[in-house]
Formats: sequence, C-alpha cells, structure tokens
Amino acid sequence: MRILATGGAGYVGSAMVRLLVSRGFEVTVYDNLSKGFRAAVPADCLIEGDLAEGDKLRRVLKEHRIEVVAHFAGSITVGESMVNPRHYYRNNIGNSLVLLEAMQVSQVEKIIFSSTATVYAPVSQGVLTEESPLGPANPYAVSKYTIERMIEDFAAANGWSYVLLRYFNACGASSDGRYGEAHDPETHLIPQVLQAALGQREKISIFGADYDTPDGTCIRDYVHVDDLAEAHVLALKAVEAGKSYTYNVGTGTGNSVLEVIRAAEEVVGGKIPTEITGRRPGDTSRLVAGSERIKREWGWQPKYQTLTEIIETAWRWHREHPNGYQEKN
Ligand code: UFG
Repeated sequence: MRILATGGAGYVGSAMVRLLVSRGFEVTVYDNLSKGFRAAVPADCLIEGDLAEGDKLRRVLKEHRIEVVAHFAGSITVGESMVNPRHYYRNNIGNSLVLLEAMQVSQVEKIIFSSTATVYAPVSQGVLTEESPLGPANPYAVSKYTIERMIEDFAAANGWSYVLLRYFNACGASSDGRYGEAHDPETHLIPQVLQAALGQREKISIFGADYDTPDGTCIRDYVHVDDLAEAHVLALKAVEAGKSYTYNVGTGTGNSVLEVIRAAEEVVGGKIPTEITGRRPGDTSRLVAGSERIKREWGWQPKYQTLTEIIETAWRWHREHPNGYQEKN
C-alpha cells in the first residue's frame, strides 16, 4: 500500500514512518516542518508542503498514487488551545477539511487519524472505554472531536474506510536512542523532567496538587511512541480490508505527575527539583485508557509496559541529544 503521512516528520508520525519504511512499505511524508524535523525521516520520503495548499496536496496524492492517508498533522497542546483557539480551529479543523476534500477529489478512500483521549468527557475515576461519553473540554479536544465526525461523515457518504486511533500520552524514544521527542517550546511532562535532570531547566512545575486523585496530581496513561506506531501497522491492515474502527490506544495504567517524577529520578539516579504551582487551564484530572478492544480485536499489545522502561528510552535520547535534532530544517 502507498501511504501518505501528513505531519509525518513529527514525533508520533515519524515513529510510524520509520517503522513502515523498515518493513518495506512505500511512504510519502507531507509536512510543512513547522514542528517536524527533516532528520526524523528518511530524506527520500519527505515532501515539504502545507495542508492548506489544497492544489499541491491533490498533486501529491495523484503523483504518488496514494491509497491511504495517515493523518498526523495538527497542533497538539491543550494549554495553547485555551489561549489561541482560532489556531486550533484553523490549523486542525480547517486544514483537515482541505485534506478530506483533496482525498475525495483524488479518490483516496482510506484514512487513519491521530485522535486523542481528550475527546472523552472528563472523569475522575476508572478507565475510558470507547463507549465512554464524549465531551471534549478544550479547543484542542473539540478540534480532534470535530475531525473524527468529519471523517465519519465523509466515509459514510463516499464509502471510505477509516481508523480513528485515540492516543493517550505519547512518550519515549526509539530503543537505539536516535529518535525522540523534541518540541519547541517543550510543554510535555516527561521531556521537561529529563531536561531538568540534565540541568537545562531549573525545576519542574507541578500543575496542581489539589486534584481528586490519590496524591493530588493529574493522572495520565503514558504509552510508548513505538507502540503507537505498531497500532498504525494494524490499522493499515484494517483499512486495506475495507473496515472501519475507533480504538483507544494506551497501556491501561495511570500514573500521576509525582509518579512520573519519581520514576524519572530512579532512571537518572538523582533528584529532580520541583515546585507546585496552580492548575494548568484545560487539564483534566484523569485520562486512562481502556484498551481492551484493540488488544482483543487486533492483538495489539504495548511492548513497553512500565513507566521506567519508557523513561529509560527517553533518557537515552535526551542524554545523547541534549539539543534535540541537530540538523537544521
Ligand atoms: N504537567 C505538569 N508540569 C509540566 C507539564 C505537564 O505538571 O511542566 C502535567 C500536566 O498538568 C498533565 C501531565 O503533566 O497532568 C501531562 O501533561 P503533558 O503536557 O505532558 O500532556 P497532556 O496530558 O496535557 O496532553 C498530551 C498531548 C495531547 C494529548 C493528551 C492525551 O499533548 O495532545 O496527552 O492524553 F491529547
């Protein structure tokens, strides 16, 4: 199958691209490099382009005879979406519409979409299953929720097949330490904790210790980026068979912010300075995956089961690449 990965030079996208290339798939990356890195993907895969450029997108779909789109491109930060919702509606929803229109015109009929756990209504207990009520609570989540509905509607009207993968918290780095998480500015917990361990950051702010959780800090389900990439290989098989699915992708284990910091301290062998600050707008107390469906129906299993194993991979990347991807875009 010939695959187009929008945002394929980004953190999760590039993990899938490298995995697919290593398994002999034909992959084209379409990325404007606003957040992604040239160095994260094989050079001969990459086309620099913006989703807003519908003509260019259509040309690429046609010239590369694309059969499946894996749609990673988009802005991903809850906090940023609270202060700049316009950007999330334009960049995520607006550009996804351009993509779906280009697919329709070009008769590309299969799509795998990077959705998020944040589409569910916030809960303070238990796990989120695919049956849990939806209720996006910030503009980022609303944008992902809306794109899910758009894909379902285009699929119903045009006979497409699709897979919506609701990622929980993507983290970790490739096991050889060559590829990892590099955002600018970095807002995610694990990379920031490791930057603090390297002395690149004075301390970690703990965004609220007064949540309704055992230690008062927020709980997330941290899932290794290579395990997310594997879920895409299974998703490709599904759309190839003409089927559509919506699955959570997480480990099923929740860890609090304090647990992440403690696990990181163990991995790096030292204390990480912290301070408790106020809550971050848009955060919810608990996001833990019920991933039984994808495990049962597709046999997906996260290879990285513990926070320690995940942080070890991230630590190797951060230690060996303290400035992220060296090569300039
Ligand atoms: N946190 C801190 N201090 C920091 C950074 C984060 O306490 O300096 C806390 C947050 O409040 C949150 C947890 O650590 O409770 C994880 O925060 P991240 O910023 O690492 O990740 P988010 O849970 O906010 O969001 C991430 C992705 C989203 C995705 C979501 C799915 O950025 O795109 O996971 O669960 F939708």
